[in-house]
Amino acid sequence: MTIQTTFNVATTFGVPAPKSLTVDGFADETHPLIPKRMLYVFRAGLSALLAFLRDAAGDAFLLTGPTGSGKTSLVCQIAARLNWPVQNVTCHGRMELTDLIGQFVLRGGSTEFVHGPLAVAMQQGHLLILNEIDLMDPSELAGLNEVIEGQPLVIAQNGGEVIRPHPTFRVIATGNSAGAGDTTGLYQGILRQNLAFLDRFRVMRCDYLEADVEIGVLEHTVPSLPREVGEKMIVVANEIRRLFLGEGEAGSELTITMSTRTLVRWARLALTFRGAPQPIAYALEQALTARADPEQRVAIHRLAADVMGDLWTGAKP
Ligand SMILES: Nc1ncnc2c1ncn2[C@@H]1O[C@H](COP(=O)(O)OP(=O)(O)O)[C@@H](O)[C@H]1O
Ligand SMILES: [Mg+2]
Repeated sequence: MTIQTTFNVATTFGVPAPKSLTVDGFADETHPLIPKRMLYVFRAGLSALLAFLRDAAGDAFLLTGPTGSGKTSLVCQIAARLNWPVQNVTCHGRMELTDLIGQFVLRGGSTEFVHGPLAVAMQQGHLLILNEIDLMDPSELAGLNEVIEGQPLVIAQNGGEVIRPHPTFRVIATGNSAGAGDTTGLYQGILRQNLAFLDRFRVMRCDYLEADVEIGVLEHTVPSLPREVGEKMIVVANEIRRLFLGEGEAGSELTITMSTRTLVRWARLALTFRGAPQPIAYALEQALTARADPEQRVAIHRLAADVMGDLWTGAKP
């Protein structure tokens, strides 16, 4: 875990960068906590995160943006390419700091202290990703302040055990809001975070992919999908996202949205159901709208029918 190696930024991430630009990662590709490598199109935000991984200087990193915009996968796919093990945690309203630090568990008749993801990440130099951090109680998170600054973790429950931060330990959080509470009303359970806590974060916004980038993702993952169909699917996706984000005149009109993951699923299913009467509609239902309420389902299907035209009513994709 300690043997570091350098990676060329341009070739490792497939982005335009000076040939001489490198970033440190790990030589060992076999650690079980290295995320699985998947297709990911890296955008402008890459350099900010790489700079943070190079030298956190006592900061943590917060990625904000709408659900499904690629926040978690950005961090995981960087880690996958740098062989950096990850402790990936999803926060929730009842989560406590001790869930992150560790707890006593019963093992073979005696109790034993088992380190949580924070303690392990600090000790081993992993990335700690706190997903949906704005769902967690701010008073619980306040306990992370010293740790982010680089101070040791003292585990009172375990006889005052002291864990010093490994040089490659980093804290990265993701959330739909930027910590100021949810001003849009789109998300449930978002809590306003403590200012002293937020003051320790570098913040970066992550938005849905631009259409010309997203078509590349579709072409790569579903290569036999005709480009014309893919392009129209992306128009539909962006219209759904716009209505979800409330950018229309009437504020937020949808409570579900279409992530790139769902878009890819829709495209795949449309090909799978090629022989069915309305493959694109049927696929959209399975990929997304079966989990929408009936009104929204109708609205989304009407929108898709408008955009897709003849393709919607039966022509095979
Ligand atoms: N830049 C990208 N390149 C490829 N796939 C992407 C990209 N951004 C998002 N995705 C896909 O969208 C899906 C949702 O991303 P995720 O990271 O879970 O979103 P978030 O954490 O913002 O809710 C993932 O399946 C991911 O593969
Ligand atoms: Mg996420």
